[in-house]
Amino acid sequence: MSNKKAVLAFSGGLDTSVCVKYLQNNHKLEVITATVDCGQKDDFEEIRKRSKILGAIKHFNIDAKKEFVENYVGRSIRANGLYQGKYPLATALARPLIAEKIMEVAAQENAIAVAHGCTGKGNDQVRFDIAMSSIDPTIKIIAPIREMNLTRDFEIKYAKKNNVPLSEEIKRYSTDTNIWGRAIEAGKLEDPWIEPPEEIFSLVKNRKIPAEYLEIEFDRGVPVAVDNRKMSLMNMITYLNTKAGSHGIGVIDHIEDRVVGIKTREIYEAPAALTILAAHKDLEQLVLTKHELRFKQIVDDQWSWLIYSGFWFDPLREDLDKFIEATQIRVTGKVRMKLQNGSAKVVGRKSKNSLYRQSLATYASDSIFDQNLAKGFIELWGMETVIANKLSKVLPVKGKGVNRNEKRV
Ligand code: ARG
Repeated sequence: MSNKKAVLAFSGGLDTSVCVKYLQNNHKLEVITATVDCGQKDDFEEIRKRSKILGAIKHFNIDAKKEFVENYVGRSIRANGLYQGKYPLATALARPLIAEKIMEVAAQENAIAVAHGCTGKGNDQVRFDIAMSSIDPTIKIIAPIREMNLTRDFEIKYAKKNNVPLSEEIKRYSTDTNIWGRAIEAGKLEDPWIEPPEEIFSLVKNRKIPAEYLEIEFDRGVPVAVDNRKMSLMNMITYLNTKAGSHGIGVIDHIEDRVVGIKTREIYEAPAALTILAAHKDLEQLVLTKHELRFKQIVDDQWSWLIYSGFWFDPLREDLDKFIEATQIRVTGKVRMKLQNGSAKVVGRKSKNSLYRQSLATYASDSIFDQNLAKGFIELWGMETVIANKLSKVLPVKGKGVNRNEKRV
């Protein structure tokens, strides 16, 4: 074996375990493994041992939880980050950070290559490749599973042949977890008609327990306290994952459009993410103007699409973040949520920056809204529509079925 080195993003799962062997056997490289902790609650000592058993020359365990929560999840909350309106982007957000950490180790260890265990069918390869080459376009990226065109079944066989130890869970499903959520794929979930079995969930419990209320306080778009208890965003997410999860909140069953052109069925559990995002969106509705809200929705969608599609490092993401941050200055206040039977419902909200005026909205007799103003307003507001309709009554219109006054023949 040469003394050339590759740094592998190592989770200890099936794909990355197979990668260690492949880099050694086929590329004749010494392998350094690095596990980046984004809150996946794995047994990191086990992973270290596993790396050693597989013959890696060094292993790094990098705690990136704080950075992940503050720089990635925090931004996503402010951007109401949901891909296709459903997926809170947990995996997608972690990939660029993992890539960055792997590249740091590669520079420090003088490695000639970096490697990841992504298949050629998923989004993660796109995110890793773009992030890694944005950081250093000269480094070689090796993706063994993609290179060998491996399927999961074959990987399991390859792993057994190479004495790679596998757990039962690893064999049944492909999962990816971090503090913001957990993705579960493969196995029987591939049939979009099959209901996800209870056994796949680890945070969401389907127990019917009495409703609970929760007050989430935001400071400039970031949640800072629950029920008047100040806590770090990290502690809050951990707390809400358990709390909302115990009410059965957080399951997402999504027919998702991948970057590489495939539609897939994805199951996620993300109790804290869904609870916080619902609260944040509602507070924005109270404090931002309708113009800000309309435009921000476009920006939020674009932001989520960029993150999903592997463009964390594109300058546009930073440009959008600047706009998003500017809108968050007034997103301070409290949201009251009711947790019950799988739903996190907003039932109240208040803010010193609220644009809601009860004196205007009320149907009671003390309303200060002058109804007489409405008549003239509507006349101007609808003027073009009224003219267009008048015109179409006078002019014959060509084409079929476009005009209600068209003569039928
Ligand atoms: N579909 C999700 C995404 O693209 C989740 C991917 C989960 N990854 C995994 N290796 N199971 O972000």
